[in-house]
Amino acid sequence: MKCRVCRESAVIDIRRHNANFCADHFLRYCRDQVERTMKEFSMATPGDRVLVAVSGGKDSLALWDILLELGYEADGLYIGLGIGDYSDVSGNYVRDFTSSFVANRESEHANSLIEIGLRDSYDYDVPTAADVTGRAPCSACGLSKRHLFDRAAHDGGYDVLMTGHNLDDEAAVLYGNVMRWQVDYLARQRPMLPAENGFPKKAKPLVRLSERETAAYCVLRGIDYQVEECPMAAGNRHLEYKHALAASEEASPGMKQAFYFGYLREAADLFEQSAVRTPDDGPGLVPCESCGSPTSGDPNGQPRCAFCRLSQRAAGADPVPVELLKTKRR
Ligand code: AMP
Ligand code: FES
Ligand code: ZN
Ligand code: ZN
Repeated sequence: MKCRVCRESAVIDIRRHNANFCADHFLRYCRDQVERTMKEFSMATPGDRVLVAVSGGKDSLALWDILLELGYEADGLYIGLGIGDYSDVSGNYVRDFTSSFVANRESEHANSLIEIGLRDSYDYDVPTAADVTGRAPCSACGLSKRHLFDRAAHDGGYDVLMTGHNLDDEAAVLYGNVMRWQVDYLARQRPMLPAENGFPKKAKPLVRLSERETAAYCVLRGIDYQVEECPMAAGNRHLEYKHALAASEEASPGMKQAFYFGYLREAADLFEQSAVRTPDDGPGLVPCESCGSPTSGDPNGQPRCAFCRLSQRAAGADPVPVELLKTKRR
């Protein structure tokens, strides 16, 4: 197996591109794919201030590293979700990466890490919120992350908030949205959403890389990352869709990329045009009375955002450890 570029021996094969690469040319391939995606979807230009949401997993750490390698001014944002050891270990990977790959880098900007702990700042955590609301943990988790990402990007004056969603993630979300014809979600499934109605611009620059590639990127760069799945992910539909797509990709390499990019090219505009605008994304938003974020209000018409409602409900409740929540839900 020889590198497509230099003919030295290759360390990885990428079947959907029918290409093999040596370590150096693979790292370059990853950066090129990100640079190309950022240009194609107008995600950022040099000089923009970028905030990267980093979870401690391979994708977001690879993304932060690639942005810095490409010369972007990029700070990290880690949210401590309070999911037992999983969150503690994830936070440590983020901090280790910051001290060994970010802080000592020669750069014009002092790139740094912002940390927000749900328990420290809002007096609740994801397992406790799931217990109090009786809903799936991912619901409280997603709501809290989205709100805190938006807030941090807005308060810090960043031009764009980036996340490490990769091709496998986006294809699986698209698959799920198509299987259930979630037309309102389809209308917003884009790798870049411009700043709108008080929400910051958001971008997913890894949509041309698979998770196997971001893992290989980290290994070759010597980046240690959280390899465990979230302990609350069991039964999550997203994983089910990923498995289904992985089987098709195995049989016909390139299928996932064709599915996702084909959607963006052929159908995304149609869904966007026909989307019914809901108060949540329309111009009828008002500032939340507690935190000032744009919101359509609560079911009683009060101007209070979903995050403030959740945190006010869960704050102060007796903490529920992950293990206990898992047994309760069985
Ligand atoms: P996930 O929803 O866990 O697949 O994560 C998708 C993306 O969201 C990651 O690639 C990160 O960019 C971001 N993310 C997930 N969890 C966190 C976290 N605890 N703190 C900051 N960013 C996160
Ligand atoms: Fe949903 Fe962790 S809370 S995967
Ligand atoms: Zn090579
Ligand atoms: Zn609020």
